[in-house]
Amino acid sequence: MVKAIIAPSMLSSDFANLASEAERMLNCGADWLHMDIMDGHFVPNLTLGAPIIESLRKHTKAYLDCHLMVTNPLDYVEPLGKAGASGFTFHIEASRDNWQELVQRIKSKGMKPGVSLKPGTPIEEVYPLLDGENAIELVLVMTVEPGFGGQKFMPEMMDKVHTLRKKYPSLDIEVDGGLGPSTIEAATSAGANCIVAGSSVFGAPDPAQVITLLRGSVEE
Ligand code: DX5
Ligand code: ZN
Repeated sequence: MVKAIIAPSMLSSDFANLASEAERMLNCGADWLHMDIMDGHFVPNLTLGAPIIESLRKHTKAYLDCHLMVTNPLDYVEPLGKAGASGFTFHIEASRDNWQELVQRIKSKGMKPGVSLKPGTPIEEVYPLLDGENAIELVLVMTVEPGFGGQKFMPEMMDKVHTLRKKYPSLDIEVDGGLGPSTIEAATSAGANCIVAGSSVFGAPDPAQVITLLRGSVEE
């Protein structure tokens, strides 16, 4: 029905060695590399943007799953498209008035659109984006408040995942925040198939083993 996708969050990597960290994760079995783009405004943290995606792209062919925690996602479409981003997941809280234009522009730059929602945002808010001609095929359900790695998984977000999975059997449902061996079962039994994991993978003595464990939990 849906395929397991394991996406280590590069936020937990050694940024000074991004290319080799990316290669290490791919050798450990990662499907995607999750890139957290923060602007210091939508969230109280600042990370990376198009120039770093462009630099990393020169070293890898991997799917770069960009998660835009920014106030004006539209401004990032052109530069990220040029830089070689693969997925462009924006927050509904930052695009309530212009998501239609945003989705069209993302597609026109050859990227795959996704929509994310913060813990306080009801799931119903993304429904209009999942139906119709320009339907989005990926929803990223935040399982922590966006901004930082290493926070505690919020199990109460699994109601959103469950509701989405019932309504959209073939949707890619991505979860992000606090995922690891002790929380993966809650997420996958609710219906998540795309797993972002930062500290649990990078902090493990054997990241490949954690990636294998996460993958094994997704019901394909
Ligand atoms: C948080 C980011 C996450 C973060 C996850 O705002 O969106 O991708 O890196 O880190 P962990 O897995 O450590 O919670
Ligand atoms: Zn993220």
